[in-house]
Amino acid sequence: MRRTMVAGNWKMHGTRASVAELIDGLRELALPGGVDVAVFPPLLHVSQVVDGLKGTSIQVGAQNAAVQSGQGALTGEVAPSQLIDAGCAYVLVGHSERRQLMGESDQMLNRKFAAAQASGLIPVFCVGETLEQRELGKTIEVVSRQLDSIIGELGVDAFASAVIAYEPVWAIGTGLTATPQQAQDVHAAIRAQLAEKNSEVAQGVRLLYGGSVKAANAVELFGMPDIDGGLIGGASLNADEFGAICRAAGN
Ligand code: PGA
Repeated sequence: MRRTMVAGNWKMHGTRASVAELIDGLRELALPGGVDVAVFPPLLHVSQVVDGLKGTSIQVGAQNAAVQSGQGALTGEVAPSQLIDAGCAYVLVGHSERRQLMGESDQMLNRKFAAAQASGLIPVFCVGETLEQRELGKTIEVVSRQLDSIIGELGVDAFASAVIAYEPVWAIGTGLTATPQQAQDVHAAIRAQLAEKNSEVAQGVRLLYGGSVKAANAVELFGMPDIDGGLIGGASLNADEFGAICRAAGN
């Protein structure tokens, strides 16, 4: 049985004061058992959040990490080993904003994925198509290519200790959500692709859906057989809304 997971990607939002408020809100949530909950603050606030959430079951992840696992001369970057030291358990790899806006290539993402795992971080590997690609009927092809990049370089077993997030680019921050069936179709294709190489890995890996998930649409999305939770952007900045999404995952 896969444990469901709800991850909150705070993106580039927050000040020390607003983060303190959000921590207070998260501490007050009654979270369901059986759901892994994690938040991904900006790097600047990781320590504040790790300290602030001590004693709760909420884990902390980073939104990005360096291409090498250990410390070194890499100005402006943060090593996965430093994130472990700071109390992180997860790291996002390949979010579409980093692929598209920061120009992160498949090759770079392969290195980031491997470096994260070498330090003991669990990568949350993000895949997804643009609106144009969907309209051209290329969704599965695009997602499959993104996964194949990791599989080709690191082997399918790399997904034995990773999480995958399917996030259609057109649904991120737009208020447009994939329908539960649209999301399920892609999730099923992802699982089938992994199963061709290793069925145990395919059955075990958690596939999160991301893209305008809110409390109002979470129950339906999380009810699909291959959707094991969500990666939540905007709605994760509101503790009550985030709590409601976590409860939806617990149903
Ligand atoms: P959104 O973002 O929930 O604001 O659409 C999701 C994400 O980018 O992870």
